[in-house]
Amino acid sequence: MVWNPQQYLKFAGHRLRPALDLLARVPDFPADTIVDLGAGAGNVTKLLKQRWPNAKVTGIEGSAEMVAAGRKAAPDVEWQHADLASWQPSKRYDLVYSNAALHWLPDHAKLFPAIMKNVAPGGFLAVQMPRNFLAPSHVLIAETALTGPWRGKVEHLVTPPPVHEPQFYHEVLAPHAADIDIWESEYLQVLEGENPVKEWTKGTWLTRYLDVLEGDEKAAFEAAYGEQVAKAYPRNAAGQTLFPFRRMFMVVQAKD
Ligand SMILES: C[S@@+](CC[C@H](N)C(=O)[O-])C[C@H]1O[C@@H](n2cnc3c(N)ncnc32)[C@H](O)[C@@H]1O
Repeated sequence: MVWNPQQYLKFAGHRLRPALDLLARVPDFPADTIVDLGAGAGNVTKLLKQRWPNAKVTGIEGSAEMVAAGRKAAPDVEWQHADLASWQPSKRYDLVYSNAALHWLPDHAKLFPAIMKNVAPGGFLAVQMPRNFLAPSHVLIAETALTGPWRGKVEHLVTPPPVHEPQFYHEVLAPHAADIDIWESEYLQVLEGENPVKEWTKGTWLTRYLDVLEGDEKAAFEAAYGEQVAKAYPRNAAGQTLFPFRRMFMVVQAKD
């Protein structure tokens, strides 16, 4: 999938809030090595460097466009253009942090214990993932995919939600953890502008579908989804759109 940093950063403030809420729950501890998985445009990675200025901070990112944006936003971070699906570091990190990225990878029953093995003894894994896949913003993407002339090209993208219940993560991480803190928050995001929920998903989940379509068909898919999602999230009297968005967080300490 091709990531567009400008589209993604249209809602930079709203997207930053959960990253900060996650960071706030990571205890103060002397981290020498930190890795940010799916570091994106670097606007969160640079905060890791600010909080632990003496640590070596590495950003792993699979999109060349995002790596370029990240290098500009956080030049004192080491950037690695790599696919997390095959990421096998040669050493463990004191803090493995990941905001809004790991839901792009499959098979969390295998993925999470594998990532936990890259956390140094006594160190922390801190992860935030959206859990909004059954909300109209996301369900309407699948419905649009399955009801238009494009169905044959996009139906393979209609898959079950990639993120499980909190209990699932507790179960798969417990054998590797000294302590597990998992919670969820639903943010009532107040958005401005024309059809902002469409603009929001166009920076992330909708892009998976638009990427495989071209020209008029791509525009028609976006318009069909846009019409439905605008109805699902009407503007209030003040012209704002209220977009509830649920996210799951975990801060897990590795065993000594
Ligand atoms: C929603 S963005 C989040 C970016 C950043 N963590 C933030 O909080 O702003 C998700 C990022 O994960 C990256 N990503 C998704 N799958 C990946 C993979 N398999 N390997 C590396 N990066 C991946 C995407 O390229 C994208 O930049």
